[in-house]
Amino acid sequence: MFCMLAPMQRPLRIGLCGLGNVGSGVAELLVRDSATLAKRAGGPLVLTHVAVRDPQRLREVKLGEVHLGTDAAALAADPDIDILVEVMGGIEPARSLVRMALLRGAHVVTANKELVARHGAELRAAALQGKAGLHLEAAVAGGIPIVKVLSESLTGNRLKALMGIVNGTTNYILTRMTRSGLDFRAALAEAQQLGYAEADPTADVDGHDAASKLAILAGLAFDAEVDAAAVHREGIGGITQGDIAAAADLGHVIKLLAIARPHPTGLELRVGPTMVPADHPLAGVSDAFNAVFVEGDAVGDLMLYGRGAGRLPTASAVLADIVDAAQDIRRGVAGRLLAARRPMRVLPLADVISRYYFSIWVADQPGALGAITTVLGRHGVSVESMIQKGRRQEPIDLVFVTHTARESQVRSALTEIAGLPQVAKIAQVLRVEGPPD
Ligand SMILES: NC(=O)c1ccc[n+]([C@@H]2O[C@H](COP(=O)([O-])OP(=O)(O)OC[C@H]3O[C@@H](n4cnc5c(N)ncnc54)[C@H](OP(=O)(O)O)[C@@H]3O)[C@@H](O)[C@H]2O)c1
Repeated sequence: MFCMLAPMQRPLRIGLCGLGNVGSGVAELLVRDSATLAKRAGGPLVLTHVAVRDPQRLREVKLGEVHLGTDAAALAADPDIDILVEVMGGIEPARSLVRMALLRGAHVVTANKELVARHGAELRAAALQGKAGLHLEAAVAGGIPIVKVLSESLTGNRLKALMGIVNGTTNYILTRMTRSGLDFRAALAEAQQLGYAEADPTADVDGHDAASKLAILAGLAFDAEVDAAAVHREGIGGITQGDIAAAADLGHVIKLLAIARPHPTGLELRVGPTMVPADHPLAGVSDAFNAVFVEGDAVGDLMLYGRGAGRLPTASAVLADIVDAAQDIRRGVAGRLLAARRPMRVLPLADVISRYYFSIWVADQPGALGAITTVLGRHGVSVESMIQKGRRQEPIDLVFVTHTARESQVRSALTEIAGLPQVAKIAQVLRVEGPPD
C-alpha cells in the first residue's frame, strides 16, 4: 500500500516594502522559519524583493539573495509578486501602492493602522475589484490576533461592547503614575527615555493612535463603515496624581480606554481616560501591554492580552497574515475581510450614558456640598458616592461618583456648578466604567 503526497506547490513570491522595526522582524522570521511556514502555507514562501528608502544603510538582518532596492511601487506593480507586505508606514506612497497591488490581484498584508483607518473603504473596494485579499492583523494591537478573532472567530455573536487598551505608550505612562507616584510629565519623560514614546508624543497621549485603532476594530466588530475622525477623543495629559489617588480610594484605576458600543440610535465610539473597577480584567493590564475586551451575546466576556507593538510581536501578526494570504491563493479564494459594511450613525457624545467622576474644588464653607448636590439633582444626576479630600487645605477637593447619567445632563449640571460662588474650579471629569446600576 502506498499513499500519494500532495506535491509541494509553486513557491509564492513576497515583496516587502519597508525593512525597519517591523520589516526586519518579518524578514528574519521568513528566513528563520521557512520550512515550518512552507508546511503551514501549503508551499514555499520566498522573500524575493525588499524596498527601503536607503539601501546603503548597514542592517543587521541577513537578506542573502533577496533583491534590495528603493522602488516600492515597482514591487506593487510586479506581476511576479504574489504577496505584497507594506510595513513602511505613512499615507503616501503606501496608499497608492497598496491600492495598485490589490487592483492587479495581489494579496496585501499591511501593519499600517493610519492607512487602514483613513482609507480602509477605498482599499477594501480595490481588493473587491481585484479579487484580492487585504490583511491587516498587525495594524491593531501588534501581536494580539484581535482582527482574526473579530472577523472569523466571533462571527456567531452579536457583540454588545468592545473595550480596548490599544496604546502601549499611554498604558505605560498611566501604570507608572499609578504604581510609582510619578506625575504625567515625569512618566512621559521616562517613556521617551525607554523608547516607548516618540519625541513628539501627541499621537499617543492625545488618543489619535487609539482612535485609529478603535475605528478599525469597531468596523470589524459591527460591520460598520467607521471614520476615525468621528471617534470622540480625549487624551491623558490632564490626569493628575489627585485623580489617580481618588480612583484608588474608589476601588478603581485610570486607563485610556477605546470603547465601541452599539445602541439603537447609533454607535458609541470614544477614546478617553476612564476609571475602571480594580477587579475588571482590563484593570490588570499594565506597562506597555495591550488588551481587547469583548462582550458577545453568545460567547459572553472574552479578553485578548499581549504585546501591542514591537519588532517580533508585530512581525508575528504579519507572518500569520502572509500564511493566510498564501492559503487563500492556493485555494483560489479571492480574499477575506470583505463583509458588507453599513454606514452607522455615530452617537453624539451628549447622548452617551455613563457613570461619572468629578473632582470639584470648593471654598471650605458650609453649604457648598448642599449647593452642588442640589444642582446635580435638578439636572437628574444622582450621586453614588462622595469623598472630601484635603480638609485643612483651601480649596478642598470634593470627589463625586454618579449613578448612570446622560452626558448632556452632566455637562449642563457642571456648567451651573462652575458658576456657584463656593466653587473654585471643576478640576476633573472622567467617565467610570462598571456594572450598570
Ligand atoms: N513598530 C511597531 O511596533 C509597530 C507596531 C504595529 C504597527 N506598526 C506599523 O508598521 C509600520 C512600520 O513601522 P516600523 O516601526 O517598522 O517603521 P520604521 O522602523 O520607521 O521602518 C519603516 C521602513 O520603511 C522604509 N520606507 C519608508 N518610506 C519608504 C519609501 N517611500 N520607499 C521605500 N521604503 C520606505 C524605511 O526605509 P529605511 O530603512 O531605508 O529608512 C524603513 O525600512 C507602520 O505603519 C507602523 O504604524 C509598527
